[in-house]
Amino acid sequence: MTQDHTRPEVNIGLVGHVDHGKTTLVQALSGSWTDKHSEEMKRGISIRLGYADATFRECTGLEEPERYTVDEDCPDGSTSEVMRTVSFVDAPGHETLMATMLSGAAIMDGAVLVVSATEDVPQAQTEEHLMALDIIGIDNVVIAQNKVDLVDRDRAVENYEQIREFVEGTVAEDAPIVPVSAQQEVNLDLLIQAIEEEIPTPDRNSDAPPELFVARSFDINRPGTTFEDLTGGVIGGSLVEGELSVDDEIEIRPGREVEEGGQTEWRPLSTTVRSLQAGDDQVDVATPGGLLGVGTGLDPSLTKGDALAGQVAGEPGTLPPTRHAFEMDVELLDRIVGEGEVEEISTGEPLMLTVGTATTVGAVTSARDGECEVNLKRPVCAAEGVRIAINRRVGARWRLIGVGTLK
Ligand code: GTP
Repeated sequence: MTQDHTRPEVNIGLVGHVDHGKTTLVQALSGSWTDKHSEEMKRGISIRLGYADATFRECTGLEEPERYTVDEDCPDGSTSEVMRTVSFVDAPGHETLMATMLSGAAIMDGAVLVVSATEDVPQAQTEEHLMALDIIGIDNVVIAQNKVDLVDRDRAVENYEQIREFVEGTVAEDAPIVPVSAQQEVNLDLLIQAIEEEIPTPDRNSDAPPELFVARSFDINRPGTTFEDLTGGVIGGSLVEGELSVDDEIEIRPGREVEEGGQTEWRPLSTTVRSLQAGDDQVDVATPGGLLGVGTGLDPSLTKGDALAGQVAGEPGTLPPTRHAFEMDVELLDRIVGEGEVEEISTGEPLMLTVGTATTVGAVTSARDGECEVNLKRPVCAAEGVRIAINRRVGARWRLIGVGTLK
């Protein structure tokens, strides 16, 4: 089967410091922003993790890089050909939204790090986001040196050199740095070329059972809808492998907390896929890449207000186990951005852990050199070997201190 390249096939994170121009860049590349999608399902997805699809095209009659575009019409009068469609996951740059950025990172196949040429490098979240990419192992990175329209040539060169020096020894060490102006739409052709070269569509096993990381969940019924008109709960997320079809039976883990005879336990939810929305389209079969809205037969009160965000959906019996506690190998960062050295983890301290798209708090029950055990407030569904972003409370907020590998 030839692949339909108008459907998103790869998720690219837009990361970087607040106001450096991530949203403007996505807007320039996608030609639109998420608010054009009026469906509530889609709108919901865009609120917390900004999200937009862009179709990259080429004007085959032109040379590189001028041939790369997002426009259908070429300057030579011909029509451009579709190369592929990417989904941008726009991570918030504000310091308090680091947990959102980290859970978004679980579904990123690569990232564009946006750095403003108007400020010294690195700004705090430029550094913190790059550390997060490093920790999660997202190594297909392109750097967009943005706002070059606001600086002179000397300043642009100096800033470029600061970026080069800053990324030395990180996942972005060899990343191309493309000077752009998102607002003036300058050099977007070069940026598209760099993304095409550096962030390939991953090879995915479509025969594997489907596994969907849930990033959002909603009740899309308007208040006052009568019982017979109620639409089932909707989950939004990204398929990391396999295919999902309408009418498939699915299981969602950890599921929901039930209380029985004074005991509480988490039970997986079972339901069927009633509808699938990929990009703007209703589809019968969904493949990895892009955010997906999955209409289910669940009682919408279970999916309301992101209640299922962080869970995993897939074929019954194939999902990783639900864990209330786990042991992990720990690798600490040398320092916390702007705070200094990272001290060892100690028994009893609370940690905020990002596992896939789940964010949970765990109390450390034992800590040794390079290892620790945690008891979770909310369980997670996670396989052995997954990478966990570890955050510690410093002052009023959670700061990234290291990475764990689930044992
Ligand atoms: P957060 O989502 O809050 O982290 O910010 P952001 O990184 O998405 O920044 P945003 O795109 O909102 O841009 C911040 C400001 O910079 C806006 O006023 C943009 O118009 C402006 N801006 C973005 N890119 C450029 C550029 O290339 N040139 C100029 N002159 N201004 C730009």
